[in-house]
Amino acid sequence: MNTESVAVTPEEHFQDKVNREVKIEPRDWMPEKYRQTLIRQISQHAHSEIVGMLPEGNWITRAPSLRRKATLIAKVQDEAGHGLYLYSAAETLGISRAEMIDQLHSGKAKYSSIFNYPTLNWADIGAIGWLVDGAAIMNQVPLCRTSYGPYARAMVRICKEESFHQRQGFEILLTLSKGTEAQRRMCQDAINRWWWPSIMMFGPSDDASPHTAQSMKWKIKRISNDELRQKFVDVIAEQVKILGMTLPDEALAWNEARGHYDFGTINWEEFWNVISGNGPCNRERIAARIAAHEEGAWVREAASAFAEKQRQRSGGKDEKAVA
Ligand SMILES: [Fe+2]
Ligand SMILES: [Fe+2]
Repeated sequence: MNTESVAVTPEEHFQDKVNREVKIEPRDWMPEKYRQTLIRQISQHAHSEIVGMLPEGNWITRAPSLRRKATLIAKVQDEAGHGLYLYSAAETLGISRAEMIDQLHSGKAKYSSIFNYPTLNWADIGAIGWLVDGAAIMNQVPLCRTSYGPYARAMVRICKEESFHQRQGFEILLTLSKGTEAQRRMCQDAINRWWWPSIMMFGPSDDASPHTAQSMKWKIKRISNDELRQKFVDVIAEQVKILGMTLPDEALAWNEARGHYDFGTINWEEFWNVISGNGPCNRERIAARIAAHEEGAWVREAASAFAEKQRQRSGGKDEKAVA
């Protein structure tokens, strides 16, 4: 068979691979916009993991038992790990970690808006696990099949850990829901405060997401924001019954004809306001990130000095091995 008779442009060859579900790898040719879209998306995702450690890390010392502390420490460490896989995946596209961290600290890069809300009491840790990690899983499971190889592979492990996070969150709320009247009130209050921000996590509705069509064509994205949001509402509207709690939405009702739950209108003004830096904790989160980065400078210096020493001891062998 003569495969050279049809001249294909690199762009067509790329799209053909995507269509055939062949993963795109770091050394493969890719359209510049594909590369930029992925850098933006993966680094945003990495930033969200790292910033997401802040509202929860806050509760490690105050978790009500040793078991709860150990579980929460493990969860917060998992999120750090997710950040690291994702920064590494983004680096394969030609951006350095230092550049990405700079973009986060200068406010140029975004992270998930949800982490700009405060964690006021212990029940919030349950609500975050159940709703925030729950929404994250809904978003991330389809990313295990995203077209860019390193991103897809990172997501497989991340999703396994996220499902553990969701269960531990639900279990915190389940325990509170079976507790005293005050604990039940805490549980309901946390659900009330986290519900709307968590369904905003799926991003603007499809008609207001200009990048969706292109991302779908490139198979970076496989399911639209509104479809994912609907799936999430359908799951949570059932699970909340097990807790004996309610979701703060009077319009929430099963729609037999659609086979889905109907739900109320999202306050998009709040969404855009928080995204553009005016949420309750935006400044506090970035200040905490910058302080952690500055205070960690000596660790990075020590690690580089140690690596250099090892390199000299091995007579530069390691360097040759990778060259
Ligand atoms: Fe995570
Ligand atoms: Fe998580």
